Amino acid sequence: MCDIGTDHGYLPCYLVSNGKCDSALACDIGEKPLSQAREHIKAQGLEDRIKTVLSDGLDSVELEGVTDIVLAGMGGELIADILSRCERIKDGSVNIIMQPMTKSEFLRQWLYDNGFAVTDEQACISGRFAYSVMSGRFNRKPEYVCDEDHLHFGLVSDKTAEGREYILRRCESLERAAKGMTGSQDKKASGERLLEIVYNKRKEVGENGKGQ
Ligand SMILES: C[S@@+](CC[C@H](N)C(=O)[O-])C[C@H]1O[C@@H](n2cnc3c(N)ncnc32)[C@H](O)[C@@H]1O
Repeated sequence: MCDIGTDHGYLPCYLVSNGKCDSALACDIGEKPLSQAREHIKAQGLEDRIKTVLSDGLDSVELEGVTDIVLAGMGGELIADILSRCERIKDGSVNIIMQPMTKSEFLRQWLYDNGFAVTDEQACISGRFAYSVMSGRFNRKPEYVCDEDHLHFGLVSDKTAEGREYILRRCESLERAAKGMTGSQDKKASGERLLEIVYNKRKEVGENGKGQ
């Protein structure tokens, strides 16, 4: 696997030392995070299986043998920008795993508009943070409609406790944003539409009426 924006290199170390993958590339744009990654890799005795690469996104990464690329802990716009600059992944041969910290709607729209299909998406809750982790490939036809519901909630299912929590937390933050919008004349209609989306989602997951 190839971890873009690896920082301390914790993910490749975890995956390799737990037998989840044979070898990995730990990549970062910064020399400082990369040297922290090198120290961690050395401390774990994994230098022969994890190589570090100084690279802006995938620009300087040799993808020969890579089956999975991870882009985690970055904004949705940066993830889209990194993917847009790498033609080699667009043949669909590589599984891409993304965990946007912000702008997940932007990323979902960009993926849909650029020939990428999300095939799985799961929520992860850590304290006051709720994340979504998606995986998929380019050169695939999505098996979903990229409507407003998809942009805000993705493929996260309410059938798991974490998925349900993610959806309800998203509803809360969207509701706050929508209420702010309805106070301004030019954003009133968009705010009201957003409140409707939140209301419908809460109803769908059995939290009726809380959005009104
Ligand atoms: C918040 S850390 C995320 C670390 C880890 N991936 C995680 O999810 O916990 C973001 C990392 O992305 C790196 N980064 C930012 N822009 C990048 C780019 N264009 N290419 C590669 N790495 C980048 C930063 O240097 C930083 O180490």
